[in-house]
Amino acid sequence: MINLKNKTAIVTGATRGIGLEVARKLAACGANIAIIDIELGDGASIAAIEKDYGVKCKGYAANVADADAVESTMKTIIADFESVQILVNNAGITRDGLLMRMKVEDFDSVIAVNLRSAFLCTKALVRHFMGQRTGRIINMASINGIRCQAGQANYAASKAGLIGLTKSNAVEFASRNITVNAVAPGFIETAMTAKMDEETTDKYVASIPLRRMGQPEDIANAVAFLASDAASYITGQVLGIDGGLGA
Ligand SMILES: NC(=O)c1ccc[n+]([C@@H]2O[C@H](COP(=O)([O-])OP(=O)(O)OC[C@H]3O[C@@H](n4cnc5c(N)ncnc54)[C@H](O)[C@@H]3O)[C@@H](O)[C@H]2O)c1
Repeated sequence: MINLKNKTAIVTGATRGIGLEVARKLAACGANIAIIDIELGDGASIAAIEKDYGVKCKGYAANVADADAVESTMKTIIADFESVQILVNNAGITRDGLLMRMKVEDFDSVIAVNLRSAFLCTKALVRHFMGQRTGRIINMASINGIRCQAGQANYAASKAGLIGLTKSNAVEFASRNITVNAVAPGFIETAMTAKMDEETTDKYVASIPLRRMGQPEDIANAVAFLASDAASYITGQVLGIDGGLGA
């Protein structure tokens, strides 16, 4: 069992989907949790984490693509939790469309929420990690940042960029005992993929060697491992969790 007791993790985009499952898994391993999300909803998922796992869990409403909001939210979280050891840059959006028809705003917003946010959150927190001489950063990339498909120029560019950011940061922060890795999910059952029509979904599932969609828990298990002491010699890596799609 992974032990994250006496640690605090920040997870962005964690009121639902993969982020929520990551937050729940890290809490199940004993970590206190700070959730940053643009929509906190009624706070029920945050209260459930505290109740189910007996850890401290607080939500912070902020747009992770906004530099000022990220800076002030990170300061508040450090004040509230005293120290933070784990950052999971998970928030992400899609605005799919063929390039010829893709609006500039749809390109910019996807790059901002999926890539700029990870730069901003890392920059706002890394001095704190360096001071502690420890830190784990896990970025939520995608198989579509490695193997791309039509209609996702913005999303694929953002996730490929996130992989570049991961590797560059890993090399830059290694001397301070801070590891930086990415996970690259394949096709995972969440609100994001529920937007796809049934025919496209069936076609996609048929191309997955394990012949099924992944669950948020599949991703959460890998994130918990990368956040744990067992992964202390792993940095700058991209772990595919995709039922064999990337093989
Ligand atoms: N679902 C998949 O198949 C899949 C595959 C590969 C990668 N991913 C990645 O996993 C991550 C989570 O995806 P998901 O499927 O759980 O999506 P989701 O849409 O269910 O959840 C995304 C979360 O991010 C939050 N969010 C969106 N914009 C934000 C912003 N500007 N600031 C703060 N929070 C914001 C949303 O409120 C939501 O809670 C994303 O980065 C996504 O690209 C998902």
